Amino acid sequence: MIKVEKMKILSQKEIAEYIYELELQGPLVDEISMPGQFVHIKVKKANDPLLRRPISISSYDKNKQTMTLIYRATGAGTIELAQQTGDLNVMGPLGSGFPVEDVKGETAVLIGGGIGVPPLYECSKQLKARGKKVIHILGFESAEAVFYEDKFKALGPVYITTADGSYGTKGFVTDAAAQFNIKADIFYACGPVPMLNAVEKLFDKIPGYISMEQRMGCGIGACLACVCAVNGPELYKKVCTDGPVFPKGELVY
Ligand code: FAD
Ligand code: FES
Repeated sequence: MIKVEKMKILSQKEIAEYIYELELQGPLVDEISMPGQFVHIKVKKANDPLLRRPISISSYDKNKQTMTLIYRATGAGTIELAQQTGDLNVMGPLGSGFPVEDVKGETAVLIGGGIGVPPLYECSKQLKARGKKVIHILGFESAEAVFYEDKFKALGPVYITTADGSYGTKGFVTDAAAQFNIKADIFYACGPVPMLNAVEKLFDKIPGYISMEQRMGCGIGACLACVCAVNGPELYKKVCTDGPVFPKGELVY
């Protein structure tokens, strides 16, 4: 069930350049059903106060009713979000996430770019808990933007790339995947559209799921702000309700 709730802000801190980790608590967490779902956040004083900001759920703990979000604060709404204390107006959980049940094969590769990295953390934790081997390829702009390397390392191997070469492998996630000859039975990816397109091409022999980022209005399927072109008879799907996670091959780039 989707809730609109004032969640308690437990902590908020900058963990990399412009990147904030926000821990929230409330009964909304009971409703989360899979990794890769997102919430829609209303900030108090953004320039466009009508529009919420969609942010992925990076991890959650149902026993403590807590969830962690990681976001980049560089626009009006997210800069305001980084100042917020006390409680926060949150709608969610929204969308369909990464399927982790009944995954065939032993090894999953999780590929994230920038602010596409956060939802892969819970996905990796849940795959690992189901006995899968998890490999991570995480791409960032520069060394200052890298976050959660140690957290992912606790789950499985991590390959970091930076666009400027200041840390890890210079280049894109697909460069590292090719250079280190990464083999897997399934992939999960989240990041900018060109990255998703390249990942689908590189891992064309295995099944996979990708999480699509799109500008949103309502977040609940009513306004059509988030439609994207898909292969198949429907032609278009809504990222907020049909996604944000889609099976490989469904999106038209
Ligand atoms: P502004 O420039 O003030 O935004 C103006 C408007 O444009 C707002 O309505 C805003 O929502 C929209 N917008 C701007 N950039 C984007 C974008 N890249 N994607 C979607 N809408 C955008 N970011 C994170 O940092 N961490 C996450 O975990 C994360 N998860 C996301 C999950 C989903 C399903 C989607 C669709 C987006 C996600 N994003 C995430 C992107 C995030 O929503 C935008 O970066 C954020 O809304 C930008 O708001 P702003 O106030 O910083 O910028
Ligand atoms: Fe309104 Fe998707 S954001 S339909």
